Amino acid sequence: PLIYVITPTYARPEQIPELTRLGQTLMGVPRVHWVVAEDAHVSNMRVVTYLKHTGLPHTYLLTPMPEEYRNQTMQPKGVANRNGGLAWVRARATEGVVFFADDDNAYDLRLFEEMRYTSRVSMWPVGLIIGSGVSTPVLRNGRFVGWYDAWIGGRTFPVDMAGFAVSVEFLLQRPDALMPFKPGHEEDGFLRSLGISQSDIEFKAAECTQIYVWHTQTKKNYPYSRQILSPKFDGTNLRVLQ
Ligand code: UGA
Ligand code: MN
Repeated sequence: PLIYVITPTYARPEQIPELTRLGQTLMGVPRVHWVVAEDAHVSNMRVVTYLKHTGLPHTYLLTPMPEEYRNQTMQPKGVANRNGGLAWVRARATEGVVFFADDDNAYDLRLFEEMRYTSRVSMWPVGLIIGSGVSTPVLRNGRFVGWYDAWIGGRTFPVDMAGFAVSVEFLLQRPDALMPFKPGHEEDGFLRSLGISQSDIEFKAAECTQIYVWHTQTKKNYPYSRQILSPKFDGTNLRVLQ
C-alpha cells in the first residue's frame, strides 16, 4: 500500500531545514506520496522548489488557517492543512494509508513499515512528549489496558498527532470524518469522527514498546546581525553585547 504523508507547514526561518530533514527521511521510504499543505494564501516558492528537488512524488496545497482562528491565543495549528490534505486524499486515492507528519518531528524509517499495513487505524508510541516523555497506548500481554500521556484531558483517544495512521479505504467509508479546529482536541476529535472503538485499533511497534517517532521541537536561532557587526564582537562575546 501507498503511504500518503500529510505534512502541515508554514513559513519561518526553520521551515526549509525542517522540510529538508523530513524530505530526506521520506527519500528512504518506498511507495510514498508527500502531501505538503501550507498555511498560506500564495505559493511559497522556496517550498515548491525544494519539493521538486527531492524527486519525491508530492502534492503542494495552499491551506490557510481561517482568519477567525488566527487571532486566538491558542491556535488550531495545522488543522486547515490536514483537512485540506484529507480532502485531496479523498478525491484522489482509493487505497493506502494516511499519516499526519508535522514538519518538525523526527521519524525513524521503521515507523513507515509499521503503519503501511493498517486495515482501520493503527497506533504506536511517540517520544519526547512534553511533561510525560512519551505518549503511548499501554498493552499487557498484547491487550490494551490504558493510555499514557501527560494530559488525558477527558479525551477518548489521548494520543499525539504523530501516534496514529488511518487506512484510506476506512477513511473513504467515513465521508464526514474531519479534524476539528479545537486546540488540544485535534487528534481526539478526528479519531472520534471516524467512529472507532478500541477494538478497531491495531497496536504497532512491538506492542507499543518501541519508539520510532519523536516530538522534537526546533529551537529558534535569532540572528544578531547588529551585534556581529560591532567592532567589539570577537565571536565569543555575543551574550555580553546583547
Ligand atoms: C503540538 C502537538 O504535539 C501536535 O501533535 C499537534 O499537531 C500540534 O500541537 C497542533 O496543535 O496541531 P507543536 O510542536 O506544538 O505540536 O506544534 P507545531 O509543530 O508548531 O505545529 C504543528 C504543525 O502545524 C506543524 O507541522 C507546523 O508546521 C504546522 N503549523 C504550525 C501551521 O501550519 N501553522 C501555524 O501557524 C503553526
Ligand atoms: Mn511540532
